[in-house]
Amino acid sequence: MKSLAVFSVKGGVGKSALAVNLAHAAATLSARRTLLWDLDTQGAATFTLRLAAAAGSARKGIAEGDLAPLVQASDYPRLDVLAADKSLRHLEKQLVEDDKAKRLKKLIKGFDKDYDRVILDCPPGLTELAEQVFRAVDLLVVPMLPSPLSVRAYDQLVEHLARFRGAPAVLPVFTMVDRRKTLHRDTVAASPERLTIPYAAAVETMAATQTPVLAAAPTSAAGKALAALWAQVERGLTTG
Ligand SMILES: Nc1ncnc2c1ncn2[C@@H]1O[C@H](COP(=O)(O)OP(=O)(O)O)[C@@H](O)[C@H]1O
Ligand SMILES: [Mg+2]
Repeated sequence: MKSLAVFSVKGGVGKSALAVNLAHAAATLSARRTLLWDLDTQGAATFTLRLAAAAGSARKGIAEGDLAPLVQASDYPRLDVLAADKSLRHLEKQLVEDDKAKRLKKLIKGFDKDYDRVILDCPPGLTELAEQVFRAVDLLVVPMLPSPLSVRAYDQLVEHLARFRGAPAVLPVFTMVDRRKTLHRDTVAASPERLTIPYAAAVETMAATQTPVLAAAPTSAAGKALAALWAQVERGLTTG
């Protein structure tokens, strides 16, 4: 089993949209048994996959070290979800209190037999939860808007990670790229190797249609960009 987290210090950069689409791509394009774990109380990823909080609470499952009873099937084959719930508001406190730096890593390891890919949708911020995520996953996918300040925040994150022993590989992605904007074009041109996801109605409407882009519009520009991103992620996970 390999794990990845969609992470950014910033909010509103397309993390949840990416997490849902990558998880759906893992399950469909690569036929991986995939678990999407929504760690953000806002539950955007959970909602987008037409789910709601499970009957039990994540807080209890985490404390007891058994999350399996909370796993729900999605509408897509091989794609399961650990939905967000309100108890995640206390997750930060819970992780600090129990003073186990690798608590999250252990919980993910618990899914080793049942899943090939575990994908985390994270809340924003360099919090205790983020530090646990850095210790737990094989790869961080970091979406950013194509602006100098977002690129700077990303560089700061990479610097921060450099201090971690066993830090995960990092894959930066420009999201919501609007090629009509000079600033977007220039920022993307300065890092030509970085993958880009266009600003696209196909992604934006996911919140209304509750359908991943590769299910609703696989041949759209955004669909192709997401498939290309997944291919790169999968290469990173299988060779890394
Ligand atoms: N590539 C995109 N094109 C257009 N809208 C997008 C794109 N990615 C995300 N969005 C929209 O931007 C908003 C924030 O995205 P979201 O994935 O929730 O960000 P985050 O999880 O980082 O807070 C949502 O309304 C989402 O539908
Ligand atoms: Mg989100």
